[in-house]
Amino acid sequence: MESFQLILIAFFLFLCCSSYADDYSDGDRGSMCMPGMDNSTWSNAVQTNLNNVVNTLEQNVNFHSGFYTTTAGEKSDKIYGLIQCRGDVSALNCANCTREAFKLASDRCYKSKSAIIWQNWCYLRYSNQSFFGVWEESAMAVSNDTDVDEPFVASKGLAMMGTLVSTTPKEPLTFAVSELDVGRSGKRYGMAQCTRDLSRSDCGQCLDYLLASFGMTVGHKKGWEAYGVGCSMWYNNYRFYSNFSTPKDAGLESQLNAAQRQWAGRFAVGIITLTTMSFLVFL
Ligand SMILES: *[C@@H]1O[C@H](CO)[C@@H](O)[C@H](O)[C@H]1NC(C)=O
Ligand SMILES: *[C@@H]1O[C@H](CO)[C@@H](O)[C@H](O)[C@H]1NC(C)=O
Ligand SMILES: *[C@@H]1O[C@H](CO)[C@@H](O)[C@H](O)[C@H]1NC(C)=O
Ligand SMILES: *[C@@H]1O[C@H](CO)[C@@H](O)[C@H](O)[C@H]1NC(C)=O
Ligand SMILES: *[C@@H]1O[C@H](CO)[C@@H](O)[C@H](O)[C@H]1NC(C)=O
Repeated sequence: MESFQLILIAFFLFLCCSSYADDYSDGDRGSMCMPGMDNSTWSNAVQTNLNNVVNTLEQNVNFHSGFYTTTAGEKSDKIYGLIQCRGDVSALNCANCTREAFKLASDRCYKSKSAIIWQNWCYLRYSNQSFFGVWEESAMAVSNDTDVDEPFVASKGLAMMGTLVSTTPKEPLTFAVSELDVGRSGKRYGMAQCTRDLSRSDCGQCLDYLLASFGMTVGHKKGWEAYGVGCSMWYNNYRFYSNFSTPKDAGLESQLNAAQRQWAGRFAVGIITLTTMSFLVFL
């Protein structure tokens, strides 16, 4: 119980009061909720709108390349929702991750109008405040504390991630992967993604913020992940993302864009390497 480190940077604008990050053995990477309301202030209309948002997101995410936004309700009961799956995840895993995220939100963010759920394969956010197209300076990073890389490799790795910061916003789905050959030390792999509601310049700023926040604290590790409100980055010494050359499945998968191909099964390894942990949480 010593080898994992979670670093959380959060200048919460409205998400102030609870965050969880208990177990990385599955896809769960953490969550933030606005405090839940009591029975007298939680209206049926809000609950109905939240249910409608969740249902609409779940029904549509796989038909829109793994990204969807929607709203339900009017005025003070209005709820805004966004779901996005990681760009390499199959439709099946996207659907599963989406369901899992909704379940976590309803457990942890009970009677809360604002929630963010970070899963390794998907990202869910809903709120009673409009947030589409806006990224925020809140983020966290996960890494294996003992898995330190050689300095020259780490600096090349960081440079690769810096390149991803500038190339990802130019990609059609603001999702990109990268590979680095470090000779005898093997290879390093990087991936970055912004939520697709962000403008390209905001996507770049969001990723830049992540790397600036965490490059010094986790950049010397062989593997790390950084999750923000609007974008995320992943880095490791094995190919943790699925192969883009893998043929698409029929059915649901055919709805997905070229960036979303069948999951190759490699990630199971990644999840296992993320099991034991201790946390450092800076608020
Ligand atoms: C709130 O409502 C639920 C469902 O009606 C009930 O089970 C719960 O006890 C209530 N909580 C409070 C604090 O009144
Ligand atoms: C769906 O996700 C859950 C939680 O991450 C996982 O335990 C389960 O194995 C997944 N199911 C499939 C079919 O991938
Ligand atoms: C969202 O809900 C919170 C809690 O009820 C409330 O304080 C806030 O004013 C609401 N924001 C908007 C934009 O309605
Ligand atoms: C992915 O592609 C690489 C390079 O072609 C290959 O070595 C590897 O076995 C593939 N992985 C899977 C899971 O198909
Ligand atoms: C962390 O890295 C060390 C060194 O490579 C490894 O022995 C250990 O199993 C890793 N721990 C986890 C939880 O991945």
